[in-house]
Amino acid sequence: MAKNIILLGPPGAGKGTQAKRLEDDRGMVQLSTGDMLREARSSGSEMGRRVAEIMDKGQLVTDEIVIGLIAEKIEAGSEGGFIFDGFPRTLKQADALGALLASKGTTLDAVIEMRVDDAVLVKRITGRYTCGQCGAVYHDETRPTKVAGTCDACGSHDLRRRADDTEEALTTRLMEYYKKTSPLIGYYYAKGDLYPVDALAEMDSVARAIAAVLDGETA
Ligand code: AP5
Repeated sequence: MAKNIILLGPPGAGKGTQAKRLEDDRGMVQLSTGDMLREARSSGSEMGRRVAEIMDKGQLVTDEIVIGLIAEKIEAGSEGGFIFDGFPRTLKQADALGALLASKGTTLDAVIEMRVDDAVLVKRITGRYTCGQCGAVYHDETRPTKVAGTCDACGSHDLRRRADDTEEALTTRLMEYYKKTSPLIGYYYAKGDLYPVDALAEMDSVARAIAAVLDGETA
């Protein structure tokens, strides 16, 4: 049965990494507002330029913009269910998501809280690079491409580093997370939807823990 889940966690928790695996393993559709906003900024529009300035500082883009982006994607539907990656990030976005799913006659099945220590995040973020074509996520030390400069998944040579993956921007991104996004932990706990997962573990273990939640195998 199709499931809709949120991957909730600070920058570098591994949301994008696990979302890609769920797409491959279960036919779910990843909805990453970060990816959507990076696409908007590369369009060169006035909105894209404003978004780029905010993202590079590590601040949050306005609720109206991201809710609009997500609404379009939910409207299109997904047979395998959605993985919300980096959305919602504020209580207003969480309320909007609930209303959007209800309007399509569906609900949220689980919120996976990806728990990590801040100490590992600098290393994860500053070593990250991604494929500009298929979105596969790599790391200089923990997950390098098999052939230097070539994406393992699609063979592209378009490997990129993000402008906001600096220690300075990460500090702001983390503070934004604690101030505006971490209240969602309580919000979803109160609804009975929250499932904490140890995201400090190696990638395969994290994937197994998420699979157990999706398959209803958690206590
Ligand atoms: P976004 O693109 O969503 O970034 P983020 O939330 O900061 O998360 P990241 O993509 O940095 O990390 P991740 O958890 O996906 O980690 P990953 O799997 O890549 O947002 C960017 C910006 O857009 C925001 O700052 C904001 O400006 C704006 N924005 C986006 N959504 C918004 C919203 N809803 N509202 C307002 N503004 C919004 O992994 C990181 C690295 O670690 C990789 O190199 C990976 O290989 C490695 N790794 C992953 N898992 C493990 C593991 N278990 N062990 C060891 N290494 C690991």
